[in-house]
Amino acid sequence: MKYQDVYARSLQQPESYWREQASQLPWYRFPVTTLAPDDNGWPRWFPDGELNTCYMALDHHVAQGNGDQIALHYDSPVTGARQSFSFETLRDQVALCAGMLRDLGVGKGDRVVIYMPMIPEAVVAMLACARLGAIHSVVFGGFAASELAARIDDATPIVVVSASCGIEVDQVIAYKPLLDQAIDQAWHQPAHCVIVQRPQLQAKLMGPRDLDWHQALARAQPADCVPVLATDPLYILYTSGTTGKPKGVVRDNGGHAVAMHHSMRCVYNMGPGDVFWAASDVGWVVGHSYIVYAPLLAGVTSVLYEGKPVRTPDAGAFWRVIEQYQVNAIFAAPTAFRAIRKADPESTLLNPYNLASLKTVFMAGERLDPATYHWVKNLLGLPVVDHWWQTETGWAICGNPMGIEPVPPKAGSATLPMPGYDVRILDANGKDCAAGEQGSVAIKLPLPPGCLATVWGDHARFVNSYLSVFDGYYTTGDGGYKDEQGYVFIMGRTDDVINVAGHRLSTGEMEEIVAGHKAVAECAVVGVADDLKGQLPLGLVVLKDGVDASDESIAAELVQRVRDKLGAVACFKQVKVVDRLPKTRSGKILRRLIRQIADKEQYQTPSTIDDPAAIGAIEKVLA
Ligand code: COA
Ligand code: AMP
Repeated sequence: MKYQDVYARSLQQPESYWREQASQLPWYRFPVTTLAPDDNGWPRWFPDGELNTCYMALDHHVAQGNGDQIALHYDSPVTGARQSFSFETLRDQVALCAGMLRDLGVGKGDRVVIYMPMIPEAVVAMLACARLGAIHSVVFGGFAASELAARIDDATPIVVVSASCGIEVDQVIAYKPLLDQAIDQAWHQPAHCVIVQRPQLQAKLMGPRDLDWHQALARAQPADCVPVLATDPLYILYTSGTTGKPKGVVRDNGGHAVAMHHSMRCVYNMGPGDVFWAASDVGWVVGHSYIVYAPLLAGVTSVLYEGKPVRTPDAGAFWRVIEQYQVNAIFAAPTAFRAIRKADPESTLLNPYNLASLKTVFMAGERLDPATYHWVKNLLGLPVVDHWWQTETGWAICGNPMGIEPVPPKAGSATLPMPGYDVRILDANGKDCAAGEQGSVAIKLPLPPGCLATVWGDHARFVNSYLSVFDGYYTTGDGGYKDEQGYVFIMGRTDDVINVAGHRLSTGEMEEIVAGHKAVAECAVVGVADDLKGQLPLGLVVLKDGVDASDESIAAELVQRVRDKLGAVACFKQVKVVDRLPKTRSGKILRRLIRQIADKEQYQTPSTIDDPAAIGAIEKVLA
């Protein structure tokens, strides 16, 4: 069937479309009801279905006689470790880990925070939570202690699973002291921390709270899968919003499993026995969906790569991994390919490798700029697919439906809406924009399975953040347009979220941290264009009168402050001290104008500006 037919059916008959998708999975109790509102009035998929996501992802394949097939290849150029896990081995390790967590008091609905580097134990811990019906919340390793503390306080976990260290290129990052600091800062105290001791650095364990992963596992008995309702949460994943408090995106079990399984074929054209490599991190949604859940649910082999596209050891790393594991499709952020191009412009490091297994390159996390698109396409001679989605949706909103009917791509476009997503471009009054006209990108409700169910512990925030702008629509926070043929072009966020090397960050949160410095009177943080990382944050600060320190020393303190409070991943390294910030007469800082000046774009002086001379001051500093 052609894309247009499939897509039309998914919107016209959503219940029958998604029931059909759901029927491909091994439920304990197949749902009778397909879509019905929950107590908050929010439409939920398969509310009376019963399943276990871990069962579907592991045990089912073993039961089908595919236990020997490889589920996961772990490849770590930073340690030299390589290990392959069959579905059966992974199932056994997960069952044991689930038994260990159960012994520590973790049961259905309990939360477990996972703060780990890219090691197999992170995947095992996630699936072990799913096995128990517990809710995991993975926190990306590049976040600072206070970010981890905020997530511990919000998710209130019984157990935290962590590791002694992560390895960033040639730097060993001690995780345990960060975890200890976070627990010191948090009001909520987990009962236990289970720590994977890595040979590169042993962590100091504080008994009886801290346990050694290997010792605790040695005492455990395997645990069986616990049936849960489709609407029971599988995980909470925190993402940047407009304030300093991250939003806990809640993903359910049933809709998620259906969407993940469906997307592996529809979006990526991957099926049992194929090898899929999402070069991301389990701390991000890409890692949740496409390193862990979707490939395993679909019986696809996944690659867990603890390394970078460059410097581990060189810009040939991606090509080496593709050849080594016979990868059929890779998914990475455009910034990774820009890094490879920068380090190896002539692509000489590609020469030793045979990439015959590779069929498609997928990119997301930030806009795929046409230059990177053409470079990768010409280099590999393969389809390069940009696809657009977000933590909230869990899978592609727009993409090229490779498993239904590949359509001709257009550089700069995320292509067409995926089944179930009624994507609209709305003007300020909520009316559909004409083709070519930019507006807010919104999705008409209901959202398809797999999208967020709520914000953890704060449904009102969910409604305010996503549902209150346009009645009957989910607001994505992105701006863009559709062309005459319905191709969707995503042009950037309409709020203060920025994308740094494919990592989603909040400039509002950075502003809160910068403004907390005693010398700062006011500040603005904007995302400015960067050739490698897409965007980088730039801070402009006005100092209080009488500050007795050089601009350089204040700037250095602010850089350190953001690194300490938000994390190195923010890449907050540029700070300029200015006399004043351009503002409207009502006192609103003109951040868009600042960004345009920094990016050397044409701009129009807003008629509402309070003091036009402020522009000259900014231009001088940013020249
Ligand atoms: N734990 C601890 N620290 C981490 C970390 C982690 N998991 N991940 C990143 N950091 C730190 C880095 O060490 C670096 O610190 P530094 O300022 O001391 O050098 C900082 O955070 C920024 O890291 P990163 O963005 O990775 O920058 P880089 O310069 O080391 O590498 C790229 C540049 C382009 C190679 C890298 O950003 C990259 O691979 N990007 C792809 C991102 C991606 O896959 N995103 C997922 C969305 S699909
Ligand atoms: P995250 O929640 O971290 O996945 O970030 C989601 C945001 O990243 C989106 O709202 C977009 O702003 C941006 N983004 C992700 N993929 C793309 C893409 N293919 N094109 C343009 N922007 C993208």
